[in-house]
Amino acid sequence: MRIDLPLAPQEAFDTLIDEISIALKTSGVTLEARSNGQITQNGRIVGYVEAWEPPRRMRVQWNSAGGVELRLEHIEGGTRATLSQVRPDESIGESEAAGWFATEFASPFICATMPARFEDWITDRRARKPSGSQARAVYREPLYHYPNFKVILAELALKPTDYLLDVGCGGGALLKEALQSGCRAAGIDHSADMLRVAEELNANAVAQGRLQIHQASADQLPFSDQTFTCASMTGVFGFLPDPLTALKEIWRVLQPNGRLVMLGSDPALRGTPAAPEPIASRLRFYTDSELRQLAVDAGFKDAKVERRELLAFARQVGVPEEHLPLFAGGAPFLIARKTIA
Ligand SMILES: C[S@@+](CC[C@H](N)C(=O)[O-])C[C@H]1O[C@@H](n2cnc3c(N)ncnc32)[C@H](O)[C@@H]1O
Repeated sequence: MRIDLPLAPQEAFDTLIDEISIALKTSGVTLEARSNGQITQNGRIVGYVEAWEPPRRMRVQWNSAGGVELRLEHIEGGTRATLSQVRPDESIGESEAAGWFATEFASPFICATMPARFEDWITDRRARKPSGSQARAVYREPLYHYPNFKVILAELALKPTDYLLDVGCGGGALLKEALQSGCRAAGIDHSADMLRVAEELNANAVAQGRLQIHQASADQLPFSDQTFTCASMTGVFGFLPDPLTALKEIWRVLQPNGRLVMLGSDPALRGTPAAPEPIASRLRFYTDSELRQLAVDAGFKDAKVERRELLAFARQVGVPEEHLPLFAGGAPFLIARKTIA
């Protein structure tokens, strides 16, 4: 398995090791990326780092037999990375070896390169479940999302007595703005990488106990009934596979009279720079009346969808002049309240 990367060898090595470690963790495997570092699977040691020679080579030796080697070599314009298997000494039969290679390596490799699979990965990577250094940098300071934050925060008009839940908090930039009101807050997101950024960005508030960050799914919020005075959600709704359950969950964790302000998923954005392909094909879009109806069905008897202008906010937060047209035309915001009859 081989890839040519437009990165210097040290950067390529660091990036690959970081990404491999994070990806392995999601499969219950922990790699101690250092000389003689242990590799554990669900708490059991299964191997170790036999060779650690950054930025040239890392070799993993399994306890049972065999291993894996990552090799990097400088090429014109970048670095070539090659991942290969180190065969166990006690070789299996020739046809079994071919079968093992075909089923365990070649076929997953072919599937991984198929367009739909790649497009799913890019959608997750950039927006649906962001990960990697580029996404971490973007969501730490999501300039193009600030106009939405401004609308939501103006509508919520937070006070120090408020307790805000931000669903799909990403890198925690909205939370950072919100906390300036003196309120308490919590953020949930299903991306471990985003939670890491949200915690770093709001380290003081976390240390002071004013902010909690949880890894969770929007359709199963890890909070008791009637916890929050208000909730926000922005840039998330179109990605939800079960939007009604997510809205019901928000309704559940809001106190009586609690308010929700969230950005909709506007069909007019399909295929524009705000919702480009391949992401657009993986988003759900809702008309204003569909969005309102979902909120009502979730229990929000008092719900309206209002179109709000973003242009002035975009100018205010410093969106470059040539990109301001992206913010013309108004965006749909659901403004709802948990009224109890
Ligand atoms: C486009 S980003 C927006 C992040 C942030 N709200 C902002 O505006 O900068 C969408 C975020 O929603 C999160 N997300 C998407 N679906 C989710 C789900 N079902 N449960 C929890 N988080 C979800 C993603 O991980 C990602 O951080």
